[in-house]
Amino acid sequence: MKLRNPLIVGSSGLTSKADKNGKWEEAGAGAVVLKSLFEEQIEAQGDLLMAGASDYPEAEDYVRAYVRANGREEYLQLIRDSKAACHVIPVIASVNCYRADTWADFAAEIERAGADALELNVFYLDTDIHSDSREVLRHYSSILKDVRRRISIPIIMKIGKGFSTIPAFVNRLQGFGANAVVLFNRYYRPDIDIERCRIVAAPPFSDPSELGDTLRWTAIVSGALPDMPIAASTGVHTWQDAIKCILAGASAVQLCSTLYKHGAKVIPEMITQIADWMEHTKYESVEEFRGRLSLSNAADASMYERTQFMKYISSRETI
Ligand SMILES: Cc1cc2nc3c(=O)[nH]c(=O)nc-3n(C[C@H](O)[C@H](O)[C@H](O)COP(=O)(O)O)c2cc1C
Repeated sequence: MKLRNPLIVGSSGLTSKADKNGKWEEAGAGAVVLKSLFEEQIEAQGDLLMAGASDYPEAEDYVRAYVRANGREEYLQLIRDSKAACHVIPVIASVNCYRADTWADFAAEIERAGADALELNVFYLDTDIHSDSREVLRHYSSILKDVRRRISIPIIMKIGKGFSTIPAFVNRLQGFGANAVVLFNRYYRPDIDIERCRIVAAPPFSDPSELGDTLRWTAIVSGALPDMPIAASTGVHTWQDAIKCILAGASAVQLCSTLYKHGAKVIPEMITQIADWMEHTKYESVEEFRGRLSLSNAADASMYERTQFMKYISSRETI
């Protein structure tokens, strides 16, 4: 996919309506990723059939309302309407799932509705103490293979950073037909209210300090797999952050928290500031500086692999 610029509006409530997506195009975004349809929503259609056969009409009403509000038809319509509202930028559909056997056929409908690509946000929280990490990797690959068989538009895998072997994992995803990866999804987080002694939701937005892991893995993966396009995500809040990600090897960046906090004006401001920086550093295209500081190109690339604080801590001890 060729984008007019590397700023993508990430999947979230920001992209849940077609008219909003038209506005992102007007603001200058390079692409939009639609709010995810959740696997449970796709399956709700099946539940409806089951509820129809049940003895509980109230349950049927409930499921019918749920499907009406959240169902797959609405999602296909969101794709069609967003395509109509966005004349030049790609519209990327998104499915949030943890298996594919029950919904993979729906991917073909997403393609037919006109989506330019499909982002798969795969995750399940494995809490089983007997589980085998190779099984987890096989699980991701099998979802990708199932969907790949059904569609020909690009598939983008959006993954979290909780893997012990990120480059090998991305390599495997590429082998099974992923066209790009998003590094990284940022999951919903719990917190604890110590006054009420209850579990509560942590603030939903990222902090700029979260960019470090995104940069590290973008640089390492792009150094190891230069043909795998990466959209850097989590902690990209400023135009400088976007440039850092591209220097590390990202082809694009996804923006979410900063757009929630500061609104659509962020996009034209970032575009102007990146263009100014390119002018004074004498780059004519993003491609000229993309990956200049990846693991395979940076002079001091070992910084990406340094994980322990030994020297820093010993020279700044305060207690
Ligand atoms: C309110 C909210 C809703 C989100 N909804 C989705 C979603 O439906 N699908 C998805 O893949 N990511 C979703 N995300 C994650 C974002 O797309 C993004 O990966 C994450 O916020 C990290 O990027 P940031 O640091 O720019 O916020 C959501 C994030 C927020 C804050």
